Amino acid sequence: MYKISVIGTGYVGLSTGVCLSDMGNQVTCVDIDEEKINTLKNGKSPIYEPGMEDLIHKNTKADRLQFTTNLESAVQNTDIIFIAVGTPSRDDGSADLSFIYEASKTIAKAMNDYKIIVTKSTVPVGTNKEIEDSISQNTDQDFSVVSSPEFLREGSAIYDTMNPDRIVIGYRDEQAGQTIKDLYKDFDTEFVMTTTESSEMIKYASNAFLATKISFINEMANICERVGANVEEVAKGMGLDHRISDKFLNAGIGYGGSCFPKDTKALINKAEEVDYNLKIVKAAEEVNEKQKLIVVDKLKEVLGDLEGKTIGILGLAFKPNTDDIRESPALKIIPKLLEAGANVKAYDPKAMENARKVLPGDVVYCSVSEEVAKGVDAVALLTEWNEFIEIEWKDISIKMNQAIIIDGRNFLDVTYLQEQGFRYICI
Ligand code: UDX
Repeated sequence: MYKISVIGTGYVGLSTGVCLSDMGNQVTCVDIDEEKINTLKNGKSPIYEPGMEDLIHKNTKADRLQFTTNLESAVQNTDIIFIAVGTPSRDDGSADLSFIYEASKTIAKAMNDYKIIVTKSTVPVGTNKEIEDSISQNTDQDFSVVSSPEFLREGSAIYDTMNPDRIVIGYRDEQAGQTIKDLYKDFDTEFVMTTTESSEMIKYASNAFLATKISFINEMANICERVGANVEEVAKGMGLDHRISDKFLNAGIGYGGSCFPKDTKALINKAEEVDYNLKIVKAAEEVNEKQKLIVVDKLKEVLGDLEGKTIGILGLAFKPNTDDIRESPALKIIPKLLEAGANVKAYDPKAMENARKVLPGDVVYCSVSEEVAKGVDAVALLTEWNEFIEIEWKDISIKMNQAIIIDGRNFLDVTYLQEQGFRYICI
């Protein structure tokens, strides 16, 4: 059992804290946002994440998990401190590390004995060394900095944290590296024990590779459409080659979320800093930006001028099982539709509250998916929520002005929809 504090209660911090407590450790989750901490103290999760609230209840009840805004006391009462604060994009694409350095300084000033500081946040190569320098400038106590990036996916954060494909541990001090390995000793997984620099790069290289894989298959889809091939079948055929694998070969309207867009930009920025032109990742990003708007092109192809037309949007979150809308294709598509003079109705099972805060005010939000279809000229599916499969599409076609579906995620059953009289257009 270790005494641990986790700074930052976003997806990474909260999942890390909650899971480490569930593994039997004594965990204090810290955040400067009082509202978030109060929500957590009341047993509620500030983010929608399957299984999260159950684990919060279980572990607070067992007295292994607590929440506070008091970072100093959390540092003083624990031996291992995880930094899991945000590293958002600056305007030039570089990672804004101000939360990281603020946290490091506060940790340093509060330290009362030896601590291991573990960086979970995604930070550009070289940052752990800088964290180390910053802490040593602000304390006389002994400490070690370990890099251990997180690879969880939103929507399956708890499962991914408990079942990682690998645990990467970057360290300078062998003993600190081994302590963090010991923390995860019950996990049946591969451990990558390496330097902090390689550990930092593993995270960026992984995300950049996955983003590139998605842009690659999206480009293949765009060629397939022009030559009469089916990208789903092409992806299946490619994926059977173990060297390629069938994962992350789903063509669609591009990647969004809090990681791929931000991390690819930060990697490109880092490369520029060291005078290297990162061509492949830049291309992946460029393809992704265009891909998001393919839905608008397809709507124009099928409806002509969009002025005065009404479009129903199913799905606003950047992926299913989350209320996160950061960099979601919907945020690019909807303003473009409004700009073209279309009316927009939208529904999402979890993300409407977040979307309302950032989308133009003239979007009409519907309380159920069926309502989106009423009187629209086409429905565009932007997020592959399971409940959209269960929609009674037959009843819906009657309510629409024109029975047209643009499936941005190649998610629905083509044959069934065509049987119901729909004009079904996918990627
Ligand atoms: C990602 C990484 O998977 C995770 O390892 C890292 O820690 C954080 O970033 P996340 O952003 O939560 O996780 O979601 P993910 O499931 O990876 O999807 C990212 C985006 O790619 C989504 O917009 C999704 O719709 C899109 N995607 C994914 C595709 O378009 N096609 C695919 O085949 C897979």
